[in-house]
Amino acid sequence: MNYDLIVIGGGPGGYVAAIRAAQLGLKTALVEKDPTLGGTCLNVGCIPSKALLHSTEMVHFFQHDAAAHGISAKEFKTDIAALMKKKEAVVKQLNQGVKTLVTKRKIDVVQGLASLAGSGKVLVKTDKGEQTLEAKHIILATGSVPVELPFMKFDGQTVVSSTEAIAFDSVPEKLVVIGAGAIGLEIGSVWARLGSEVTVVELLPQIAPTYDKDVSRLAERLFTKQGLKFELGAKVTGVKQDKGKAVLTAERDGKKLEFPADKILVAVGRKPFTEGLGLDKAGVELDDKRRIKTDAHFRTSAEGIYAIGDVIAGPMLAHKAEEEGVACVELIAGKAGHVNYDLVPGVVYTDPEIASVGLGEDAAKEKGLKVNVGKFPFMANGRAIATDATDGFVKVIADAETDRLLGVQIIGRNASEMIATACAHMEYSGSAEDWARTMHAHPTLSESMKEAAMAVSKSSIHSL
Ligand code: NAI
Repeated sequence: MNYDLIVIGGGPGGYVAAIRAAQLGLKTALVEKDPTLGGTCLNVGCIPSKALLHSTEMVHFFQHDAAAHGISAKEFKTDIAALMKKKEAVVKQLNQGVKTLVTKRKIDVVQGLASLAGSGKVLVKTDKGEQTLEAKHIILATGSVPVELPFMKFDGQTVVSSTEAIAFDSVPEKLVVIGAGAIGLEIGSVWARLGSEVTVVELLPQIAPTYDKDVSRLAERLFTKQGLKFELGAKVTGVKQDKGKAVLTAERDGKKLEFPADKILVAVGRKPFTEGLGLDKAGVELDDKRRIKTDAHFRTSAEGIYAIGDVIAGPMLAHKAEEEGVACVELIAGKAGHVNYDLVPGVVYTDPEIASVGLGEDAAKEKGLKVNVGKFPFMANGRAIATDATDGFVKVIADAETDRLLGVQIIGRNASEMIATACAHMEYSGSAEDWARTMHAHPTLSESMKEAAMAVSKSSIHSL
């Protein structure tokens, strides 16, 4: 079968690329090895974890906060099977939604394992047989898989990745999480809210290490109050058995540490998934981190083959992959596709959430930039007080000379939604003053963003 474009991988990068291609009139095939579209994000990542986080936020509310609102929750109990079923329903609905979006645009969805099979050719293998597709352009969007620690391989039962940890059928009494990044903190929060004793073992001296230190410190304090235990600066050394129970071993300052565990979630990052694609034979080169090498137009070292998303350099985030999918296809179609890598928002969907875009204060100072910083605590925001969302703050980092916004960091309820305003202001090269003079509805949590922008010039009205 002959196409203009074959996209390999049906995650947020791949299916979005296919849709954009169809919009631009390219005859497109989308090849996916799994039975559903949506990739890691929709099937076992962003979406199911958000469903679990939402359910367990309610659990937390009934357990800890309901009484203060005059709500009696004496009969309150949780049913893990029902909670998982709700999560699965969310995933199924979105699977169906993506399928409709793709098929209604006349994209051919081909289920099977794809590999490169010579100039313009893609071989797709299924249980039932093989077929060869041909196209002028091929986009590789095969995503990533969890990193495994070499001395403690995943066994699917005790030592697990996020895929299993979002689907436990009962609450583990003791859950040990390795890595205090996005996955560790989100999934750790889910099970802690359901009653697990959660210990997070992190190599670095701070949790959520990509955020500013003041953000991480507050997050650590708040999550500790919620029952998570953090063991920072600890190097994991292995796992042993003691009386039929797993024990994670680690070291800190030469001292041996031991953490008994019913489940161990390894969340130390993800790596590009390129296995079986036949990259070598096709002449597609990898970089030193085994990511597919691309130029600014997503072209690999092989003619007509492009790559986007988690298989190439940059943060492994669904929204980054989507933007690359659109830009890559637009460039193929002779348009001016572009991704602004300076403005990739990051979010950790805990409670409170942590979100950022652009440069943090620490990173800006490390670069030797002169900055003015404005900070506003949610404690001083009316809506936050009315809705129990007073934990956290907004921090705006602006260039000291030009007042141009360089970055925003938020720790607070709904930070994931609020960060979008920061992205928009920054996309249009806004200044802190532009933002400070933008009217915000009252009462909203977002006013804290405006107030933090005002604080850059020491003109915040509602904080001293
Ligand atoms: P991550 O890179 O965000 O965090 C990994 C953490 O593990 C880091 O804090 C690191 O210092 C620590 N670490 C590394 N090796 C270690 C070791 N041997 N012992 C102890 N700690 C160690 O990776 P994570 O959380 O696994 O997520 C994987 C990818 O998926 C990331 O790119 C992340 O951005 C993405 N993701 C994004 C989410 C979001 O945007 N909310 C949610 C889940 C995943």
